[in-house]
This record gives sequence, C-alpha cells and structure tokens, in this order.
Amino acid sequence: MGFWSVVLFTLLTCASVSISDPSDEACLTHFTQSLKDPTKSLQNWTKSNFANPCYGFTSYLPGATCNNGRIYKLSLTNLSLQGSISPYLANCTNLQSLDLSSNQITGPIPADLQSLVNLAVLNLSSNRLDGEIPPQITMCAYLNVIDLHDNFLSGQIPQQLGLLVRLSAFDVSNNKLSGPIPVSLGNRSGNLPRFNATSFLGNKDLYGYPLPPMKTKGLSVLAIVGIGLGSGFASLVLSFTGVCIWLKATEQKMALEDGKISQLMPDY
Ligand SMILES: *[C@@H]1O[C@H](CO)[C@@H](O)[C@H](O)[C@H]1NC(C)=O
Ligand SMILES: *[C@@H]1O[C@H](CO)[C@@H](O)[C@H](O)[C@H]1NC(C)=O
Ligand SMILES: *[C@@H]1O[C@H](CO)[C@@H](O)[C@H](O)[C@H]1NC(C)=O
Ligand SMILES: *[C@@H]1O[C@H](CO)[C@@H](O)[C@H](O)[C@H]1NC(C)=O
Ligand SMILES: *[C@@H]1O[C@H](CO)[C@@H](O)[C@H](O)[C@H]1NC(C)=O
Ligand SMILES: *[C@@H]1O[C@H](CO)[C@@H](O)[C@H](O)[C@H]1NC(C)=O
Repeated sequence: MGFWSVVLFTLLTCASVSISDPSDEACLTHFTQSLKDPTKSLQNWTKSNFANPCYGFTSYLPGATCNNGRIYKLSLTNLSLQGSISPYLANCTNLQSLDLSSNQITGPIPADLQSLVNLAVLNLSSNRLDGEIPPQITMCAYLNVIDLHDNFLSGQIPQQLGLLVRLSAFDVSNNKLSGPIPVSLGNRSGNLPRFNATSFLGNKDLYGYPLPPMKTKGLSVLAIVGIGLGSGFASLVLSFTGVCIWLKATEQKMALEDGKISQLMPDY
C-alpha cells in the first residue's frame, strides 16, 4: 500500500512538472547565445529556464508559448534585438510560429530552418538580414505566412517557394532581390491566394508580373533603338563626309598633277 502511494505520488509529481526536452534546450541556448540584447529585453531568458521552459501552455520565457511541454511559438518583436539567427533554432522541432519582426537582427536566414516541419508562420520582417532566401524552407510544407519585408536580402526569389500551396501571405518588399519573379508566386494558378505588386515592390532589380513593367527597362529599349538609329545616321553622315573629302582631295591632286604636267610642257 505504502509502496503504491509512493509510486502514484511520483507519477503525479512527474506529470505536473514538465519534462525537459534536450532538443528545445539546445535550441533555446544557442538561439539566445547568437542574439545580442542591448536593451535587456529578454528577461528571464536564463540557462536554468532553458532546460524547463514550459509550464502548461505558458512559458517562463516571455515571448515563448508552449504546447505539450514543447516550444510552440516564439514571438520576440520590436525588442531592439541584434546578432544573428542561430541555425540551432532548427532544434525547436515543434515550432509552429517564429516572429522576430522589427528588430536589428543581421546575417542570413539559416537553411537549417527546413527541419521545422510544423512551421506555419515565418515573420522576420523589418530587420537587417542579408544573403539569399534559402530555397530549403520549401521543406516547411505548412508555411502560411512568409513575411521578409524590409531587410537586405539579395539574389533571386527561389522558384520552389511556389510549391507552398498553403501560403496565404507572402511579402518580400523592400529588399535587394533581383531577377524574375517566379510565375508560381507572381501569377498563382487555380484558387490559390494571389499576391499583388505590394508583396514585391522596393527591390531594384526584381521584375515580372505582378510588378508594373520597369520604366527604366522600357526607356532602355527606346534608348537602344535611338542609339541604333542615331549611330546609323551618324555613320551615314561620316561616310558621306569621307567620300566628299576623298573626292575633293582627288580633285586637288588631279589639279596639281595637271599643273605639274602643264609645267613640264614646253611653253609655246
Ligand atoms: C540539434 O540540431 C543539430 C543540427 O540539426 C543536430 O546535430 C543535433 O543533434 C540537435 N541536438 C539536439 C539536442 O537535438
Ligand atoms: C521567471 O522564471 C521563474 C522560474 O525560473 C518563474 O518562477 C517566474 O515566474 C518567471 N518569470 C516570468 C515573468 O515569467
Ligand atoms: C516599438 O518599441 C518602441 C519602444 O521600445 C515603441 O515606442 C514603439 O511604439 C514600438 N513599436 C511598435 C510598432 O510596437
Ligand atoms: C509581421 O510582423 C509585422 C511587425 O510585427 C506585422 O506588421 C506584420 O503584419 C506581420 N506579417 C504578417 C503577414 O502577419
Ligand atoms: C497568368 O496565368 C494565366 C493562366 O493561368 C494566363 O492566362 C495569364 O496570361 C498569366 N499572366 C501573366 C502576366 O503571366
Ligand atoms: C494587395 O494585397 C493586400 C493583401 O495581401 C491588400 O491589403 C492590398 O489592398 C492589395 N493592394 C492592391 C493594390 O490591390
């Protein structure tokens, strides 16, 4: 009897205290280490809380949300965070929503995020992220939201992102992206939600539907035609002038030769 009550007590205690998850602990530890927090916004984000961050649905870590004892959401916006996004974030394998918008985070978007197979929301807007958009994030098949606006992302928009059929929000405006907008994103087929030009504006070298035709592109076509016509005309004028000069010179030479001949002729 006494034995069983001890067992029951132990079981109950274990159930009420959340079981630590080594994967989440690695994730949170590295994630925090690679960020800089000059305004000390990440209160309570301490080593002792990484081993056991969850208490039911709530977390001891402000900005984190739990589900089944695992980190489920990270929402750390407008906290003046700097530093970079750790690839170890991929160890938070139950993460469904990652919102680090409106900070000063630098560096690339880690391709390792592809292991976050439950990820539905990725909002990294208004930071200082650079490098390319990793095509690997297409592995996160549940992605609903990709908001990367206002960063320094470069390169092309990966074609594969068009495979994300659950996407209902997509914004890469105000970056340094270039090349064509994949048709699978710019002109989505069927009844998939469509994205208008607002999603793509503010990228100097990005082109294609739904962006309006580039003014400079249109002008440069005209300019090329203009230059072609202009140079054609110029070369015509030049060659004409050349021929004239040549004719004049020949004429003069002939006149001179005539003179010479007349000089050689005895005067009668
Ligand atoms: C964390 O992720 C890395 C790389 O994906 C992996 O090698 C490592 O085993 C993971 N660690 C834990 C504790 O899950
Ligand atoms: C900070 O963490 C401790 C446990 O380490 C917890 O008791 C406390 O409620 C937490 N504070 C906040 C604001 O979540
Ligand atoms: C961001 O935080 C600053 C103060 O830290 C505040 O003044 C500003 O209103 C916040 N912006 C948003 C959009 O919440
Ligand atoms: C991403 O975050 C920004 C700033 O917090 C917010 O204004 C925007 O609506 C979010 N994007 C989406 C698609 O929810
Ligand atoms: C968009 O796709 C439709 C058919 O799916 C096609 O008829 C249309 O020409 C396309 N528009 C552009 C600008 O590519
Ligand atoms: C573009 O789409 C967004 C929602 O995704 C909407 O709020 C906005 O009004 C649209 N703009 C135009 C010009 O249609």
